[in-house]
Amino acid sequence: MEMFQNHDLAFASRKTNEATGAHFYDKGSMALAQYGPYWRMLRRICTTELFTNNRINGTESLRSNGIDKLTRWLWEEAQKKGSVEVARFIALCTVNIIGNVTLTKDNIVDPELEEGTEFLASFGLATELSGKPNVADFFPFLRWFDPQNVLKNAKLAIAPPINFVSCFVKERLLERQKGQINARKDFLDVMLDFKGNQKNGETDAIMSERNISIVILELFMASTDTTTSTIEWAITELLRHPNIMKNVQMELDQVVGPNKNVKENDIGELPYLQAVVKETLRLHPPVPLLIPRKAVEDTEYMGYSIPKGTQIFVNIWAIGRDPDSWEEPLSFKPERFLSSGIDYKGQHFQYLPFGAGRRSCIGIMLAQRMLYLALGSLIHSFEWAFEDGVTPETIDMKEKFGTSLRKADPLNVVLKLKAENQDRKI
Ligand code: HEM
Repeated sequence: MEMFQNHDLAFASRKTNEATGAHFYDKGSMALAQYGPYWRMLRRICTTELFTNNRINGTESLRSNGIDKLTRWLWEEAQKKGSVEVARFIALCTVNIIGNVTLTKDNIVDPELEEGTEFLASFGLATELSGKPNVADFFPFLRWFDPQNVLKNAKLAIAPPINFVSCFVKERLLERQKGQINARKDFLDVMLDFKGNQKNGETDAIMSERNISIVILELFMASTDTTTSTIEWAITELLRHPNIMKNVQMELDQVVGPNKNVKENDIGELPYLQAVVKETLRLHPPVPLLIPRKAVEDTEYMGYSIPKGTQIFVNIWAIGRDPDSWEEPLSFKPERFLSSGIDYKGQHFQYLPFGAGRRSCIGIMLAQRMLYLALGSLIHSFEWAFEDGVTPETIDMKEKFGTSLRKADPLNVVLKLKAENQDRKI
């Protein structure tokens, strides 16, 4: 509370390193931008143009189409192979939804095509390298030698996904030159319009074509692992707690009804489903240390002198399990959110899965729509079970900290169509 209420500005910058500097990624990125005019410009465009209620409402059908397709993929895989690794399909579905919202591109990835899997793998690797301890970050004179090849590997990893996105940007620029106008003004249009209206030299915050590609790539990176991890953990917790699973199913049956698809309009009437997502984010926050902040200036903080440039981690994983704030902190109990009024918008400091203050998650509105709709749709479509030999008592709950806090052992499940949903078209 002290940090976000009284020192948010002093700690509003980001710590970058050798790996994040590969191909000048950190110079185009919003999440890694130093606190200053470039970040302010991006944040303003995002708040006033991209992540507004109107624009998010206007893309509802893109999300529901993406999730219908996810349900079909899972069902086909279940029929083919018996058990299904859910996270792989959720990640592909998220990429497609973000591709549609940002670039008006359908089916950027497909489980049958290698390209999508490569796209996911290369940006996963790039973020992993950015978190890898690198001796050159601590001894700047070693930068030239890149002794662990971190920079070299980061360059190799980040170049393909930047090029992948920049092909779409170039294609759109060509269409615009030919006078073809995209009927639905998407994120890319908004950024290109902004670039077009920008007067050179007016500010040092320049929206270049390359930076547009990096910002769009970042929206893919920021949403894919976080959303996938949350849904994978939520399903795991529901399978470990059959009573809670039953409560979610009953709520969906009552509000949505059998043979019907969940719609975003239903979410307001599904408080228990919402509580399950919130409880999952408390115990399994995908970004457990937030994105490292940096002190903008020398700061006195709770009796300590924090020098300018200090890197700051906020351990929201520990805060979410603090027994001073949470009763039975290690138990999965969605009910705690039904009456408490605690939410994740950054005002309740015992619970910060999306961060707080100036650098909090900009995609929170889009994220919550995707999480509720995807989890609700998946639970409403199928009966879920662990694969053979795994039980609620033996399921491996180990965590792996890479791009985000993922389940170390990916969840494999067995799916059956719900009896009352046999007539529903999957
Ligand atoms: C479960 C879903 C998500 C979670 C848990 C999550 C969490 C976070 C967290 C913890 C931060 C850092 C906050 C801080 O340092 O105080 C962050 C930043 C950010 N997130 Fe998310 N996020 C999610 C989804 C998304 C989505 C869907 C998008 C966009 C499409 C997005 C875009 C961003 C961006 C651009 C930043 C950097 C903001 C800045 O530095 O100003 N996130 N997110």
